[in-house]
Amino acid sequence: MKYIVGNFKMNGDSSMMIDWIQKFSCSSKNKIIIAPPQPYLNFIDKLPNNVFMAAQDVSPYQDGAYTGQVSAKMLYDLKVSYCIIGHSERREYVKETDDQIYQKFCQLNECSITPIICVGESQEIREKNTHENFVVNQLEKYTDINEELIFAYEPIWAIGTGKIPTISDIGQMINVIKDNVSSNAKVLYGGSVNAKNASNLLAIDNLDGLLVGGASLNPVEFANIAQS
Ligand code: 13P
Repeated sequence: MKYIVGNFKMNGDSSMMIDWIQKFSCSSKNKIIIAPPQPYLNFIDKLPNNVFMAAQDVSPYQDGAYTGQVSAKMLYDLKVSYCIIGHSERREYVKETDDQIYQKFCQLNECSITPIICVGESQEIREKNTHENFVVNQLEKYTDINEELIFAYEPIWAIGTGKIPTISDIGQMINVIKDNVSSNAKVLYGGSVNAKNASNLLAIDNLDGLLVGGASLNPVEFANIAQS
């Protein structure tokens, strides 16, 4: 059983959500999770039984005067069972730090929501060949955590670009991540995954699944990926 997670990012509207749910059909044994934008998390009631809901982000705070933020308790209230944190787009555009991401992890942990923690290096870091150290540093706060944890290795230069690392580079990074966290942790790959490359990627030893961006917006392609 692998995890196939679709991150819709800031795309779609309610008619897209209805259309996606109607057209998505998949009998795979894989665990299928979608992360639509927050206003559409309440479509959870309309999802097929084999599709789970994730949020794309959560507040690092429990409750209070934090205009615009959504707490882990609210996600729990909606029966959302997973939440992406530390996506590189949030690290870049709202300057999220590893400390804030860890605070978010703690909030999710209190509400028994499984975090999907994104890590991954920029092109510049990859060119300097320091990507393994960079990612190990991003994992620092999670080395001794035994709760159910999912990491997603998403090299920033592979997101939305059509470029992906070689299969052996991905395998190597998955091993580096697994060597630095608890043996219960799962590790996914994300960055330019599509229906054509999914089966090669899913054949990587030690890889526990895929985090899919653009290609998850198409329910037929996403079902193909989930069945790869
Ligand atoms: P793409 O699949 O569009 O490259 O996006 C990957 C991603 O950022 C998923 O979180």
